[in-house]
Amino acid sequence: MKTHRLTTTASLLIGISAFAVQAFASEPTVVPEQPPVPAQGKITYVPRDSILEFKALPEYHEPEWVTEKFVKAGKLPPVAERLPKEPMVFKTGNMPDGAGVYGDVMRHVIGGRPEGWNYSAGQTQGWGGIDIGMSECLTRTAPLYQVEASDVEPLPNLARSWEWSEDGHKLTMHLIEGAKWSDGDPFDADDVMFYWDDNVVDPNVSPLNGATPETFGEGTTLKKIDQNTVEWTFKEAFPRQHLYAMAYGTFCPGPSHILKTKHPKYAGTTYDQYKNGFPPEYMNIPVMGAWVPVAYRPDDIIVLRRNPYYWKVDEAGNQLPYLNEVHYKLSTWADRDVQAIAGSGDFSNLEQPENFVESLKRAANEAAPARLAFGPRVIGYNLRLNYSANGWGEPDERAQAVRELNRNLDFRKAVTMAVDRKKLGEALVKGPFTAIYPGGLSSGTSFYDRNSTIYYPFDLDGAKALLEKAGLKDTDGNGIVNFPEGTAGGADVQIVMLVNSDYGTDRNLAEGLVGQMEKLGLKVVLNSVDGTKRDATQYAGKFDWLIRRNDQELTSVVQNTTQLAPTGPRTSWHHRAPESGKVDLLPHEQELVDIVNKFIASNDNEARADLMKQFQKVSTENVDTVGLTEYPGALIINKRFSNIPPGAPIFMFNWAEDTIIRERVFVPADKQGDYELYAEQLPGKPGDSGPSN
Ligand code: GLA
Repeated sequence: MKTHRLTTTASLLIGISAFAVQAFASEPTVVPEQPPVPAQGKITYVPRDSILEFKALPEYHEPEWVTEKFVKAGKLPPVAERLPKEPMVFKTGNMPDGAGVYGDVMRHVIGGRPEGWNYSAGQTQGWGGIDIGMSECLTRTAPLYQVEASDVEPLPNLARSWEWSEDGHKLTMHLIEGAKWSDGDPFDADDVMFYWDDNVVDPNVSPLNGATPETFGEGTTLKKIDQNTVEWTFKEAFPRQHLYAMAYGTFCPGPSHILKTKHPKYAGTTYDQYKNGFPPEYMNIPVMGAWVPVAYRPDDIIVLRRNPYYWKVDEAGNQLPYLNEVHYKLSTWADRDVQAIAGSGDFSNLEQPENFVESLKRAANEAAPARLAFGPRVIGYNLRLNYSANGWGEPDERAQAVRELNRNLDFRKAVTMAVDRKKLGEALVKGPFTAIYPGGLSSGTSFYDRNSTIYYPFDLDGAKALLEKAGLKDTDGNGIVNFPEGTAGGADVQIVMLVNSDYGTDRNLAEGLVGQMEKLGLKVVLNSVDGTKRDATQYAGKFDWLIRRNDQELTSVVQNTTQLAPTGPRTSWHHRAPESGKVDLLPHEQELVDIVNKFIASNDNEARADLMKQFQKVSTENVDTVGLTEYPGALIINKRFSNIPPGAPIFMFNWAEDTIIRERVFVPADKQGDYELYAEQLPGKPGDSGPSN
């Protein structure tokens, strides 16, 4: 892949005129083949309807201590009365180890910190699956990694069934009937409507994973039909794709009976009071998920106990979850790997390559407490350039000048050709893990097509020539190119790159990139902040460049699809509309938006596959994002747990915390540890300081 001059064929291939090409830059090629992923777990593919169903069972069961201490004492209604008329039943045939037994704890370790419990208003709980275990959403997609490709459609969840109108513009959803929040309050269409009307649609509120109305398609509306029925109206006919947006994390309603007490529309409060109305110290926030937070010690731990109203059971009628308690130790992400391997923690998504070798070595020991299994190459990183030239994030003169550069294809080509991806990858870990990743769709998704993936090889001289073509010269001889005279005072080109400081991998990639860009003649300055601040800074548009680990749209395509391009004012990670105004799309972005919209509107598998090939080509040819590296992740989980599906990827439709279906995970009686901190206790009333016994 050494330097060739750009030929006419090549310029045709990349869709630019021969006239524009005079720099001595390498020819773009198809991306090199990736090394095979070592020791991948094997997935057993199953029909979609083999996982779960909704039906009444002749009898129901719960842990004995719940009956003894709570039901018999009149503190809790009998389990049959706490369950919906027809609960969700997980089929035994789909459970790797069958129906389980009650007891024990899953001890998670996380690097995030809780801002508070108002997920609907955008507060993080610290990630690592804590919010996933508390939330339930209209549909569910994480388990789809095991569903046969021809049969893939989101699974029912809070919406137990749905049907389309004849013309395909209306979708009627039937909510699970008689389900209750963890404090016993009924769950119904009012919760769904509160989430939609007063959070998603209210422009002053932005739910945690950034759900906005356009996440569900421009012009989409939702209305309540009765307590158990809601109806969607779409501009497109049969946009089945939106069923994915109704899964985690964009349609998981919060407890309206509690949240309304702080929402401006109902309580005369401010939006700030609403967002911050349920701080981390507020215990027992009602959830629809399997576990309720009952204890919080800052920088130490969050403890969650089983939800006595959980609405899912196994085929024998045992109310789930099997695990009584879940811990979230508040530490660092790197420590999550270390603790899971050592056995003082139970679970990790091994996603930071710096820890691969040591983890593999330790897990290979027969006496190791945890098992480790690699999955497909789904962890990737991109450098994203802020394309807004019309005011998103209110750039000053320098930042505005950088944005104009970001919008220049020669500049982007220079940047991508100055990235030595082999070196970046090897600085993280040696061996067959990291692969050359030019950007665009992840090689781990079924929509990936290598032949549509255009790669501009590493070529520093070619990159420098392109930079000059973009009008940048080092006029003062200090090694850094200057803006042209008349732009930003002709100063050195300085670029502020936003980075998440919570992850060693993000920091290492950022530092590697700073050095490589300096060789090109660009001065990159890091704005390295914790994950919560990173998100806020990013959503506010206050960055020139951004390093970001890939999200679901690139690893699954069908999840978070609207984020693949600026399909709405606030869908893209790096190009959003200013407060008032539109997204100033570049021509190639307009193409991407059209492709994504067609993809969403189409139900034809072949057409969709083809559209994603086009997406990949337009995206990588135009260096829409600058891919950095891509590698597989491994699930580390303590050996005492059962019902962990073999081959479960750590990331695809969702993170592994959801993929493994934690409510079905159990510890056989002879392996149970003594880890429960609040044994035989249940969540207290909302706002109470702890659990109740
Ligand atoms: C963080 C972690 C991931 C995963 C998610 C779950 O992002 O890095 O491995 O645990 O949280 O939301």
